[in-house]
Amino acid sequence: MGVFSSRLPARLSSNAFSQAVADLRRRRVPLIDLTVTNPTRVSLEYPPALLASLSDSRALSYEPAPFGLASAREAVADAMSSPSVRVSADRVVLTASTSEAYGLLFKLLCDPGDSVLIPQPSYPLFELLTQLDGVEAVPYRLEEHGAWSIDRESVIAACGLRTRAVLVVSPNNPTGSMLRRDDHEWLAAFAQERDLALISDEVFADFPIAPRADASSLLDESRVLTFTLGGLSKSAGLPQVKLGWMVVSGPAGEVAQALERLEVICDTYLSVSTPVQVAAPRLIAESAPVRDVIRTRIHENYRVLVDAAATYPSLRVVPPEGGWSALIQVPETIGEEALVLRLLTDAHVVVHPGYFFDCHRGAHIVVSLLPEPDAFAAGIRACLELAQ
Ligand SMILES: Cc1ncc(COP(=O)(O)O)c(C=O)c1O
Repeated sequence: MGVFSSRLPARLSSNAFSQAVADLRRRRVPLIDLTVTNPTRVSLEYPPALLASLSDSRALSYEPAPFGLASAREAVADAMSSPSVRVSADRVVLTASTSEAYGLLFKLLCDPGDSVLIPQPSYPLFELLTQLDGVEAVPYRLEEHGAWSIDRESVIAACGLRTRAVLVVSPNNPTGSMLRRDDHEWLAAFAQERDLALISDEVFADFPIAPRADASSLLDESRVLTFTLGGLSKSAGLPQVKLGWMVVSGPAGEVAQALERLEVICDTYLSVSTPVQVAAPRLIAESAPVRDVIRTRIHENYRVLVDAAATYPSLRVVPPEGGWSALIQVPETIGEEALVLRLLTDAHVVVHPGYFFDCHRGAHIVVSLLPEPDAFAAGIRACLELAQ
């Protein structure tokens, strides 16, 4: 299309599945939505005054700061710190969202045509996020053999002369898998050898389900330039508030150079609103009950799923270590696409097919663990009945 950039996808229209969902919604057919990941739409109880701090009058004064106000960066640093890891506020960069953080990092690390390695299966937005910055997303594989791990050969094969960074998502969406200590060590050595940065999306870190003892965070990785991402969207169940962050770690010289350059990028946009920065310390502290209700919801729904699936020998729930979603392995006979369409038209239940997240081995459906408990239980019963 003449004047438009090729950074946009060639096809802008939605696929047959989303059109079928939209069609049923238009006809007001009640649907059970097991794809919902918007925490504000699943009857969770939020403290009524949670957003009161957004009207703090200190926000009437504008003091542009590329990485954000010191008070907000300190609050994030404190929240990210633990007895074993001390995060320093001068390595915290505020962003409007994790998605925006990716865009800033691609601008920092990549020239147009460079590539980053992305996990597969994972979050489908990576394709678009990279494309919008003129960057190529090259997949490497996660494999499940009892537990998930990185297919190291696939990382080596995916890495080319123009590769700039490796993305890790832990807990991952939708597998719920976490980075293992031995994969962390291997990846750090590989990144050092190939001069790559690491980007670790840990937005679901506050939501463990059944973490392994050897789960590892990249928050304090000191050998390789590393960016660890988080945000209120998941940690406080507040995607509408628009506050994310990255923590920069690695060798001191590289961290300093990265921060110098990030400052130019962030100063160009200054995209994080002053009210949210002023409110950040209270938003973080006062959202603790929201984290708790989300944890309770995902644990209870996961238990319902496991109990229900136990009576269907042909189905398997792939155990998540954390996050907001679960993967159900189904017989390959029906086909993922046919199954999700049948679930939609016959049972009015919306689930995602595994291929939506590039699940490559076997057939899967992906369900969110956030829905209201009654709807979740009814939807899961219909899924298991049709998928078996
Ligand atoms: C793994 C992962 N990273 C990032 C995001 C986006 O987060 P944000 O709302 O902060 O852009 C999502 C949203 O679902 C996600 O699943």
